[in-house]
Amino acid sequence: MNNIAYITGTSRGIGKALAEVLLEEGWSVTGISRQQTVEHAAYKHLSLNLSDPWQQWLPHVFAQHEGAKRLLLINNAGTLGEVGYVGHISPEAIANAIAVNVTAPALLMNEFVKSYPQQQKLVLNISSGAAQYPVDGWSIYCSSKAALDMLSEVGAHEVELAKKNNLHVFSISPGVVDTNMQEQIRHTEKKAFSRVAYFQQLKSGKRLADPTEVARQLMMLINHPKEFKGVKQDVRKM
Ligand SMILES: NC(=O)c1ccc[n+]([C@@H]2O[C@H](COP(=O)([O-])OP(=O)(O)OC[C@H]3O[C@@H](n4cnc5c(N)ncnc54)[C@H](OP(=O)(O)O)[C@@H]3O)[C@@H](O)[C@H]2O)c1
Repeated sequence: MNNIAYITGTSRGIGKALAEVLLEEGWSVTGISRQQTVEHAAYKHLSLNLSDPWQQWLPHVFAQHEGAKRLLLINNAGTLGEVGYVGHISPEAIANAIAVNVTAPALLMNEFVKSYPQQQKLVLNISSGAAQYPVDGWSIYCSSKAALDMLSEVGAHEVELAKKNNLHVFSISPGVVDTNMQEQIRHTEKKAFSRVAYFQQLKSGKRLADPTEVARQLMMLINHPKEFKGVKQDVRKM
């Protein structure tokens, strides 16, 4: 019996590292992103743009896995979007970031739970510390991650009320991780984001976490979800 994972945003960064670590550990992985970079016999890629209308892609994501031991959904794909003060962001960028960071995870989590009613399931929504406090220039990023946190909180609350023991839901703050997203942050203009120098110092001081290390730490949660109390989990405290 196989362990099956669906992960969004597997072309680079944290999502790619998660796919590679899960494959190393013998899971079968379906990855979703616009580009494909992972190649493995047990890896299937769906080249999808998660901000496209859901009717075009959602019905094609989840396959039947009758013999599967465990099923995992990691909503990892995310975008910082356009960094800028309110009043200076394009409408397209706002709609796109909310589609990728909130709408797609909600659609996928709903469809995942619906598709596998009897099987053992785990959902990890990759959030951010920025969901907890305001960061100038990041109004859409902070608010979309706060919405993702609440999506996880409500999902977990419903599991508790329904006394289900075959679904676990977590919202994960991965820490500050050395990926393209951090590169984008370091290249923002100071007038759009006052904390740019802080993030530049994190990189020059080698204080960014390695994506593979983050993925390995998350394996503890993936393998032992019942040992983790609380919906919001911070990789730096695992
Ligand atoms: N890095 C950090 O320090 C940090 C901190 C806190 C939270 N996070 C969160 O961690 C997650 C992963 O971030 P990362 O740093 O690994 O980011 P990244 O390096 O920028 O990678 C983002 C991934 O999301 C995919 N993606 C973006 N837009 C998409 C779309 N429209 N359709 C399908 N896939 C899309 C990208 O694939 P394609 O471009 O190929 O589509 C890529 O694989 C995000 O949710 C982020 O908010 C990161």
